[in-house]
Amino acid sequence: MKRCAAAGSVERAKPSFIAVVGSANVDLTTFNDVFPRPGETIFGKKFDLGFGGKGANQAVAARLCGANVGMVAKVGSDLFGPATIRNFESQGIDARHVHIAEGVSSGVAPIFVDPSGQNRIVVVKGANDTLSPEDVDAAAPLLLKADTIIMQFEIPLRTVYHTVKFAKANGIRSIVNPAPAQPVDYKEVGAADYFIPNESEVEAITGMSVHSIDDARKCAQFLLRQGMRRLVITLGAHGSFAAGPERMEIFPAFQVQAVDTTGAGDAFIGSFAVFLSEGLSEEEALPRANLYAALSTTKVGTQKSFCNRAEFEKEWRNRGGHR
Ligand code: RIB
Repeated sequence: MKRCAAAGSVERAKPSFIAVVGSANVDLTTFNDVFPRPGETIFGKKFDLGFGGKGANQAVAARLCGANVGMVAKVGSDLFGPATIRNFESQGIDARHVHIAEGVSSGVAPIFVDPSGQNRIVVVKGANDTLSPEDVDAAAPLLLKADTIIMQFEIPLRTVYHTVKFAKANGIRSIVNPAPAQPVDYKEVGAADYFIPNESEVEAITGMSVHSIDDARKCAQFLLRQGMRRLVITLGAHGSFAAGPERMEIFPAFQVQAVDTTGAGDAFIGSFAVFLSEGLSEEEALPRANLYAALSTTKVGTQKSFCNRAEFEKEWRNRGGHR
């Protein structure tokens, strides 16, 4: 990897290979001013149908950032399953380990976005819940090519724990995104190189509230004591808080006009994995991932709100790496 003089941008020597062991959903997003009360029917303002799922979103973000990407996932034997596989293929993502689970629905996510761009999501896991440790083993030839393997919590936790062990045994960097939050076996996820929750996830997992950077620091100290190696707590408009045994640091967010924050966390993780895999340091990768995530909030939808690498680099240069 060579560094260009202009604004610290990076000339990439070879594309990285990112593998995602995770979920694929179809997102059904409505844009509403208010939410219905029990027994009430209201009109929404707008509807958007798109490919989503935290795993698939992270895979697409990584691909758009220029990495080669392989996906390990299960989709349903319904209209959405084959369409999801075609979506991966059309983006140049290796989907040979995305299989159809017979007799099961695809993962779906009704999403409600309010006028400030904040979202509320209900995930029905469907086929995602059938992704097993055996599926991960069957995908070993693909996973062994990876610089980084990313996981989330929309698949069975035993599959996440198995994949963390696989990555560790084979010297591959692993990133666990505990979303949606569930009680965690710290011993199992502690072997991952990065644990990346957002503020509500870290609150749910630790039982500690996070309203300030200082709260994030206390939470991170607690998680490091439980055996986590490195953490990044994403704090939305406040940026991302990185913590390891030797130091902790906040990386402020970039100012943008947000219309829909759905998928911003996935944009952050997919791009962060690519920047790290290209050889950038954590201190260089985190501000870039912050910007990549922020840019995704300026458009509607999840995967379709992610920009490509050229668009990202242009924005990074224009901002000179500044907020
Ligand atoms: O992080 C956003 C994603 O969460 C959506 O795409 C939805 O499918 C849920 O998985």
